[in-house]
Amino acid sequence: MKKLRVAVLFGGRSAEHEVSLVSAASIINALDPNHYEPVLIGITHNGRWIVHEKALQMLQQGKIETNISAFPAADPTVRSILLLDYTAADIFAGEMEIDVIFPVLHGTYGEDGTMQGLFELMDIPYVGAGVLGSAVGMDKVIQKQLFAFHRLPVVQFLSFTKNDEPQKAPDKLAEIEARLGYPMFIKPANLGSSIGVTKAIGTDELKKAIGVAFEYDRKIIIEKSVENAREIEISVLGSDELRASVPGEVKPTREFYDYQAKYEDTSSLLNIPANLPENMKKNAQQLAIKAVKAIDCSGMARVDFLLTGDQLYVSEVNTIPGFTKISMYPKLWEASGLSYSQLLDELIRLAMEKHQQKKQLKTHATKITDWYKNN
Ligand SMILES: Nc1ncnc2c1ncn2[C@@H]1O[C@H](COP(=O)(O)OP(=O)(O)O)[C@@H](O)[C@H]1O
Ligand SMILES: [Mg+2]
Repeated sequence: MKKLRVAVLFGGRSAEHEVSLVSAASIINALDPNHYEPVLIGITHNGRWIVHEKALQMLQQGKIETNISAFPAADPTVRSILLLDYTAADIFAGEMEIDVIFPVLHGTYGEDGTMQGLFELMDIPYVGAGVLGSAVGMDKVIQKQLFAFHRLPVVQFLSFTKNDEPQKAPDKLAEIEARLGYPMFIKPANLGSSIGVTKAIGTDELKKAIGVAFEYDRKIIIEKSVENAREIEISVLGSDELRASVPGEVKPTREFYDYQAKYEDTSSLLNIPANLPENMKKNAQQLAIKAVKAIDCSGMARVDFLLTGDQLYVSEVNTIPGFTKISMYPKLWEASGLSYSQLLDELIRLAMEKHQQKKQLKTHATKITDWYKNN
């Protein structure tokens, strides 16, 4: 049987570049060599694509030792990746055909729909959410608005763009304080890994936090804090039919699950499965599936909740969650009966199936002359 050539994309231009390398290493290791032929594609911090069997080591060491860059062809009649060497007399250095793309890119230019748009143009099957689900999954404001529209429980929030300059307008600050009350969480709308996220307990802090969040994005979200919240997460898998894993719980050992807690001080604990009453588990699983549907997401997603008392709030959906062997997304599936490599099989199968289904859709309206003949 012909092996499936899987292009694993990692690194990328986001602040989560390093995390992506760790996720990708686990995935490449676990792809069954009897069924798959992995093609390693590393994307550098500045966006250069490297197709090389040592691409992962090169990115880990920050030393790119090849003149060849890869150029994905947005032309669907090509359906491959061109290899070019600008330093050679003949810049054409070959091409690489691939069957399916596995983007392991967290954050901007990877998880946010931009990359997915490129895959659509290339007409190659890819793992995970499509353009819309990815873009909405990245935007904390739009997704919360959609959750609210679908009557999913969300914390009270307000959103501002750079032009609003709420940090400079005392009346706006007073309104935020009156409507949300302290403590509050201030975050850039489109980022992850808790970058630019601050918890504020007074006006001065609020002003500063707004300034910080605007350094990362033109749009910010300010949320009421759910105090002493438990952080519950559920993995979702599937396309039209979605499955939810058992819930897990993150126990940060810091004030909140900030960047340090996530990647530097790794003493935060994962409790799998989370210790929750049976009815709350079921409720969380149903909410997770509804949240994924609300943003038209498919493939994979990790849905994060904040829990206080018996009130669950849907916090956010991550469409390319951390994927190392010890990450919550695959760990939750393991606890639900799907091993790490079975999970990869299933994600790749879903990617192929979705692409097939799309192929069968009509792309042109009936010619108007034919329409008149038949009607
Ligand atoms: N409204 C809130 N109430 C309580 N804690 C919050 C709230 N919003 C965020 N947090 C804390 O901040 C962390 C990061 O926020 P989150 O919205 O998940 O952003 P990111 O996309 O960067 O992970 C959460 O895991 C949680 O610990
Ligand atoms: Mg989060």
